[in-house]
Amino acid sequence: MNDELSEQLKIETHWQEEEYYQPPASFVAQANLLDGSIYERFCLENFPEYYKEFGQMLDWEKPWDVLFDSSNPPFWRWFVGGRLNAAYNCIDRHLAENKNKTALYFVPEPEDERIEAVTYQDLFVRVNEVAALLRDHFGLKKGDRVTIHMPMVIDLPVTMLACARLGVIHSMVYGGFSAQACADRMVDADSSVLVTMDGYWRDGKWLDQKEKADQAVEAADKEGHRVNKVLVWQRYPAQYKSASQIVEGRDVIVNDLLRQYRGSQVAPESMLGEDTLFLMYTSGSTGKPKAAQHSIGGYLSYVTAMSKYILDIQPKDVYWCMADIGWITGHSFIVYGPLSLGASSVVYEGSPTCPDAGRPWRISERLGVNILHTSPTAIRSLRKLGPDEPAKYNYNYKLMVTVGEPIEPEVWRWYYNTVGNGQAAVVDTYWQTENGGFLCSTVPALKPMKPGSTGPGVPGIHPVIYDDEGKEVPAGSGRGGNLCIKNPWPGIMLGIWGDPDRYVNTYYARVCKNPNSKDWRDWPYFTGDGAMLAKDGYFRVLGRIDDVINVAGHRLGTKEIESAALKVMQVAEAAVIAAHDDIKGVIPEVYVVLQPGVTPSKEVKTVVVDAIVKEIGPIARPREVWIVPDLPKTRSGKIMRRVLASISNRSDLGDLTSLANSEVVENIRKMVQD
Ligand code: WT7
Repeated sequence: MNDELSEQLKIETHWQEEEYYQPPASFVAQANLLDGSIYERFCLENFPEYYKEFGQMLDWEKPWDVLFDSSNPPFWRWFVGGRLNAAYNCIDRHLAENKNKTALYFVPEPEDERIEAVTYQDLFVRVNEVAALLRDHFGLKKGDRVTIHMPMVIDLPVTMLACARLGVIHSMVYGGFSAQACADRMVDADSSVLVTMDGYWRDGKWLDQKEKADQAVEAADKEGHRVNKVLVWQRYPAQYKSASQIVEGRDVIVNDLLRQYRGSQVAPESMLGEDTLFLMYTSGSTGKPKAAQHSIGGYLSYVTAMSKYILDIQPKDVYWCMADIGWITGHSFIVYGPLSLGASSVVYEGSPTCPDAGRPWRISERLGVNILHTSPTAIRSLRKLGPDEPAKYNYNYKLMVTVGEPIEPEVWRWYYNTVGNGQAAVVDTYWQTENGGFLCSTVPALKPMKPGSTGPGVPGIHPVIYDDEGKEVPAGSGRGGNLCIKNPWPGIMLGIWGDPDRYVNTYYARVCKNPNSKDWRDWPYFTGDGAMLAKDGYFRVLGRIDDVINVAGHRLGTKEIESAALKVMQVAEAAVIAAHDDIKGVIPEVYVVLQPGVTPSKEVKTVVVDAIVKEIGPIARPREVWIVPDLPKTRSGKIMRRVLASISNRSDLGDLTSLANSEVVENIRKMVQD
């Protein structure tokens, strides 16, 4: 465990235990999962048999031969030999009973634009036409990778599901990420087709997305990777609203080409349960982003079960997850989970506070949203900008979700009392990109809520806290440690795309009990999070223990940000730390040492900020760039980020005796704090 975390732990151990909140009786009366014996059925002794129940939530063309194949640890395979198609499960299987039901609502950011309701029948037609276009015009087939760099519009899930129908692996890069980030991911996934959109609305501004596609193709080219085709959707069909030119022979306007495919149907490709559905990139402690490779059968069954049991999605519900589909939360809980259950899911284009902090409550009122899924960072900003807004609108949530980072009990109470009017169950779902779906959460009708704690493992997941020697830290000890999961589960990724060693090293090597063992019991999963376990079996997540910063609920690698800063010629050294922020929770702050002879200036700071935004995207924009004479270092030359973090966060500097140059600390402290 790093020093920063152990210091944090000292503080966190003084946390008071929060009081319980009972789920409302009205919620319990209608809940999907009311039978408390699920925890006994899903006990470790019954592993892996209990996951049959999850598999049975899907329609299989051919049943699986082997439920759980553990012959090559830790590369677990689920539902092996079974055949199915994800798009079929999310669309076709609902047509007989529910073709006129709304599958997706599209809410444009401009409030005077019409909301669009797409039925399951309509979604079926659109997905088939796009699948035909991808197959027949671009020759895409099973196993190919397609990169999607799109905003929050209906054409995005349509494109994903069209890929899934063909067995094409989609790799979505969050639309707000930079061209460079998109290029790196295309290179890594070896995908030669990029799907984008001309532009979109965000925070009242029109953003040009196609421009970024041009830059991304160029950047990929520099890395020796050729992108042959760029498919461009139009935000307003029949109008092209990007400043960038259409490149003859490379770019295609999807909306135009689609006319040739009107009414086309494509049989869903027969895929294996253990085949790959998509790649989703995430940050790790080394610079290079890594793609979690998710399966069809395991992933889809897992998100379906989680949507049903934890989110309590039912056919009559209107469900809105405010995440972006470009993150795993959106993949699992805007697209795949809700559609697999035949629910109505909302896709909102814009920012939750545009044009004001009443927007989410107006959308909920208008569409009758009764399940809301969002993050602490969004809750904090809505609370700050419009603490009394929710009361002005007429909506009723039965359930509300928080995900992405620990939520402060204060913020939780505002969410529960003011947003939920004290009448909704709240679930604090803890999980990661790599996991497909939830690891920890209360089952909403079965367990009380506790502000700031995620809850126990969800049924089937058996979490444990190990100390650095690999010994189990008992419940209620008040000590923190490494949060691990004792057993595999269907939603766990198949691996890291193209890098099996990194998969083993990052998630298993540290806590593996015997690397030669073929027994899954010897291969717990290492989350990389620190956590504490209370007497009641509820986990309280403390945060990452590696060099990863969680900004607004999303992981960014400190090394990635530092290497972006180091691309600036004038910069000699850079260190990035996590500064605490009232709204975003955590925000990067950058400390740089300039090359000899360069004079510190505002301009240099701006160049550093620009470089970071260009390389990674606005999400990584640092709050501050500090130009310092030297960085605090250990005698062996390691940068002591912990000391810089304490300065930025005005906390106790701790022990400085291991520093080789402790004299710089006071210097930096004065500069930052005075
Ligand atoms: C990291 C994963 C898949 C969720 C979206 C972010 C932190 C996530 C919680 C929570 C406390 C949480 C962890 C985790 N985290 N949910 N409910 N309480 N911390 O996905 O980018 O893969 O980040 O987010 O630190 O490791 P991600």
